[in-house]
Amino acid sequence: MARAPIPYGRQNIDDEDLASVAEALRSAWLTTGPRVGEFERAFAEFCGAGQGVAVNSGTAALHTAMRALKIGPGDEVIVPAITFAASANAAIYEGGKPVFADVEPDTLLIDPTSVEQKITPRTRAIVAVDYGGQPADYDALRALAAKRGIGLVADACHAPGATYKGRKVGTIADLSAFSFHPVKHLTTCEGGMVLTNDLEMAAHMRRFRNHGIDSDHRSREKAGTFAYDMVELGYNYRLPDVQCALGIAQLKRLPQWISDRQAIAARYDKMFADLPFVRPLATRPDRTNAYHLYVIRLDLGQLQVDRRRAFDHLKDAGIAANVHYAPIYHHSFYRERFGYQPGLCPQAEATYREILTLPMFPGLSEADQGYVVSKVRELKNLC
Ligand SMILES: Cc1ncc(COP(=O)(O)O)c(C=O)c1O
Repeated sequence: MARAPIPYGRQNIDDEDLASVAEALRSAWLTTGPRVGEFERAFAEFCGAGQGVAVNSGTAALHTAMRALKIGPGDEVIVPAITFAASANAAIYEGGKPVFADVEPDTLLIDPTSVEQKITPRTRAIVAVDYGGQPADYDALRALAAKRGIGLVADACHAPGATYKGRKVGTIADLSAFSFHPVKHLTTCEGGMVLTNDLEMAAHMRRFRNHGIDSDHRSREKAGTFAYDMVELGYNYRLPDVQCALGIAQLKRLPQWISDRQAIAARYDKMFADLPFVRPLATRPDRTNAYHLYVIRLDLGQLQVDRRRAFDHLKDAGIAANVHYAPIYHHSFYRERFGYQPGLCPQAEATYREILTLPMFPGLSEADQGYVVSKVRELKNLC
């Protein structure tokens, strides 16, 4: 019998999740009810942050963070070259311009030295991406941001529960954006959240996610009034109660899932230790990695095949490896809109050619993991 393909990531839904969602569906509130605040408080508390603002995707979370920092036309926002497009797109939604910083080749985290080189008088924010689940070098980035009085945003979509020098992601930057897409650590189907300790920015973001209106339906009902004021142009970025119900139930298993992911990564590291052509990304000693992704770099000088052939070999063996990510400025939109050319971030471009994301999700069996490693070993003999 053919083996079922092994995905690179997969959600985990249990009976408690189903019961929580069913209860919400039977309640008076399908959207913007009590579960939104409950989920915001629970997730913020898990991360150690003061305020959580739930929105309906990680992309919406990043956009909301850009508005909270008042990014506007002419403003530059520094983003790592290797990340999901949404990390950079968010600045453009507000009229800003993403400026790409290079990454450290052994971690794919934004390189603070490159950030410093990219700062201009127009720079208004740095978006650090906790690539794969490892926090960026926040002390170095904070020092750069503080010197220039610019905002520091964590795109922490890969890293709930990860730590930097003992501090949890979600408490370090001015604003931290999370995603609850099904491949992420916990899911609300689609969903996201911004964490901050700044009460004023939190209030602004709650308004922004609701069209820019200064109250929501539930609070007006409580106050016995129909009147509201739209004070700025916002969006409908609300995360429904039913989805928050799923998030509340999922959150209870998050600590276990993070340690499952770390155990899977440790097993991969051990199994690859004797394969000189496989270099897993490094985790810095002052950080813990929540392992959204397990990414290897192939030393192509030791192989007779390129990354495409390696990817195909795994695909043909029923392993859905992936590549996270092409440098954003390679996309035609970025080339055409901003005129970005190859050569902008040499480390990102060189490392992009070598990377492969292997399956990583709680529930990945040791047998399946051993199978993945055996197929990676075969790359040595391919030509
Ligand atoms: C680094 C990063 N930022 C932002 C996002 C956007 O999140 P969402 O898909 O929830 O909009 C993702 C999702 O893949 C991501 O990986």
